[in-house]
Amino acid sequence: MSDETSAHTPRRTFAIISHPDAGKTTLTEKLLLYGGAIHLAGSVRASKARRHATSDWMELEKQRGISITSSVLQFPYAGVRFNLLDTPGHQDFSEDTYRTLTAADCAVMLIDVAKGVEAQTRKLFQVCRMRNTPVVTFMNKLDRPGQDPFDLMTEVENLLGIRCVPVTWPIGMGPLFKGVYDRIDKTVLLFQRNTDHGASVANMDVVPADDPRLAEILGESLWQTFQDEVALLEGAGGDFDLEKFQAGEITPVFWGSAMNNFGVEPFLAKFKEMAPAPGPRQSSRGQVKPADPEFSAFVFKVQANMDKAHRDRVAFLRVCSGKFTSGMWVHHARLGKDVRLSRPQQFFAQERTAVDEAYPGDVLGIFDPGTFRIGDTLCTGPMLAFDAVPRFSPEHFARLRPKDPSRRKQFVSGLSQLVEEGTVQHFQVPGQEQIPVLGVVGQLQFEVLVHRLKDEYSVEVVLEPLPYQHARWVRGEGATLEAFSDRGYGACVLDQDQRLVVLFKSDWSLQVAERDFPKVTFESTAPLELATV
Ligand code: G4P
Repeated sequence: MSDETSAHTPRRTFAIISHPDAGKTTLTEKLLLYGGAIHLAGSVRASKARRHATSDWMELEKQRGISITSSVLQFPYAGVRFNLLDTPGHQDFSEDTYRTLTAADCAVMLIDVAKGVEAQTRKLFQVCRMRNTPVVTFMNKLDRPGQDPFDLMTEVENLLGIRCVPVTWPIGMGPLFKGVYDRIDKTVLLFQRNTDHGASVANMDVVPADDPRLAEILGESLWQTFQDEVALLEGAGGDFDLEKFQAGEITPVFWGSAMNNFGVEPFLAKFKEMAPAPGPRQSSRGQVKPADPEFSAFVFKVQANMDKAHRDRVAFLRVCSGKFTSGMWVHHARLGKDVRLSRPQQFFAQERTAVDEAYPGDVLGIFDPGTFRIGDTLCTGPMLAFDAVPRFSPEHFARLRPKDPSRRKQFVSGLSQLVEEGTVQHFQVPGQEQIPVLGVVGQLQFEVLVHRLKDEYSVEVVLEPLPYQHARWVRGEGATLEAFSDRGYGACVLDQDQRLVVLFKSDWSLQVAERDFPKVTFESTAPLELATV
């Protein structure tokens, strides 16, 4: 067993949240590079290409050249084992992306300095906020012209409602980019453009911030700006405070260029110190602490047919306490029986490797004969259940029916399986139960659904898009089906657990409803207790 997998190695489990093209793949690659998990950057991309050539993963992935399933990567750095949960971000943005965050202890928010806070970053940040997950910010692409650093921080503060505390500070930007100032170590890290396009670790000169040579190195004008900005930052009194960060009240901000490897290692070195260790989790028996001797874990994702030849499903578990050993027997809280956890695997990029042991903070994939659902708790010792993984408001809706009515049985069984996996949410219009209304977070999930029903269940379906934008679980005084019907807001439906949900056509109709029903709460998430259709 290698050192970084041992029980004594500290774990830091995190995810990167960003809008597509901010540089998540590039940063991931560079983190692996600095962790020594790969030697030349380019491997993550290369493995993407290789997978497309040889993949036994879903056909659609190959056709579209994208990754639909989120993977889990491990890398060691300075005595710590990092577990990085990859969050699908492009067209494959889905509820899985949100759920993955429930298994992370911390998030890195990656922002393109030219684009600022973008739509997906906002949505993912809200999920972190809901759980008070600490968020570290990395402002990327400093080698390109971008917005003024103060304006960028103001944008984060105004749009996301979290205070920024710069840990590093940029000196110049775009063609004038000279490096970053480390506010904790009081050093300036001077940028040198790599000649190999960032494939190997960056060369970097580190000089004390009061080094008299700096004025000459930076040039008079940039040096003066740097002095003024540092004075302004000091005056603002925003020093980094670990407790406030870990409580989700502030976000430390780092600056760099992932592509050029610049600022990545200083970031990683500080991130290692700041990122929280796996913490306690709420359960039906109170708090479960990582140091508790009994094993406990929860399922945050179920992926079917990763290997189509074997028609297997993999359930992804996040270990919360105790020790996992391959083949162990555990209580399955929802089923009320014991199950064996067999064929545990961990993932390096798309490679799977067998695992013998795992500890709190670790994530592993378990062969699933159909026993696991998202939100399931597994444990030894007294039976317990962790708080459910929430279900998030879909943003795309459609009605679905089989093309050939004689295939109805296969349609219902296939759909029920996919709903159980959490790929789509299922709603019923009272009185029209035969034609389900389905909701997804990312449009691509519909394509996946149609494809999988055809490919795995031999059912061709007709999908009719519906014009709704938001689902809200409505509760409180006056929240009845009758009250909300015929109001013109959208549609009144029941979710998988027969709870009342209103599907709104626009932000405007939602606002009107909120005004019309001041005693009703309109919730954009609901606890996840998946039921079959
Ligand atoms: P994503 O996973 O968040 O979608 O982003 P990805 O890493 O794929 O990066 C998106 C684009 O941004 C890529 O360019 C990447 O090279 C570029 N990029 C990432 N970090 C930096 C940076 O620090 N500076 C600059 N200038 N660019 C950066 P591309 O043209 O789409 O792909 P490629 O041809 O470079 O592979």
